[in-house]
Amino acid sequence: TLTQAEKAAVTTIWAKVATQIEAIGAESLERLFASYPQTKTYFPHFDLSQGSVQLRGHGSKVLNAIGEAVKNIDDIRGALAKLSELHAYILRVDPVNFKLLSHCILCSVAARYPNDFTPEVHAAWDKFLSSVSSVLTEKYR
Ligand code: HEM
Repeated sequence: TLTQAEKAAVTTIWAKVATQIEAIGAESLERLFASYPQTKTYFPHFDLSQGSVQLRGHGSKVLNAIGEAVKNIDDIRGALAKLSELHAYILRVDPVNFKLLSHCILCSVAARYPNDFTPEVHAAWDKFLSSVSSVLTEKYR
């Protein structure tokens, strides 16, 4: 669980990220598909070219879900319950991929807000994204 200081760090930088949901969401997915092309196999029905409508639309959905987790930082499990079932039972995304996407979200935030991205903020966001990933993968088997 996150300390009060970590929660504060996550919430503070989220206020900035929230103004750039679509751009940061799309960039996170672009980084994911460019660096880890095996992840593209989950999206055979998407146009994954840079800046595509689907990439931006899906990037927004992912980042909005992260926003829900930030808003409910003391009950991430409750906030993402539906999404957890979707990824485990319907989409069957291999849990390793959550680490990859988390890393790409972290990089996109760091690249956009380099001055805010102190080691403390980095560590807090890493821990927060890992909590989100745990919730989204805990329904498996
Ligand atoms: C769908 C969030 C990780 C693959 C979704 C949706 C959201 C979401 C909000 C849309 C759900 C809906 O339409 O009701 C997240 C979050 C993640 C995450 C917050 C982790 C931080 C992943 C990973 C993969 C993945 C790692 C695979 C590499 C998919 C696929 C869909 C989906 C294939 C369905 C896309 C479609 O057909 O529209 N995700 N996701 N997700 N996610 Fe994730």
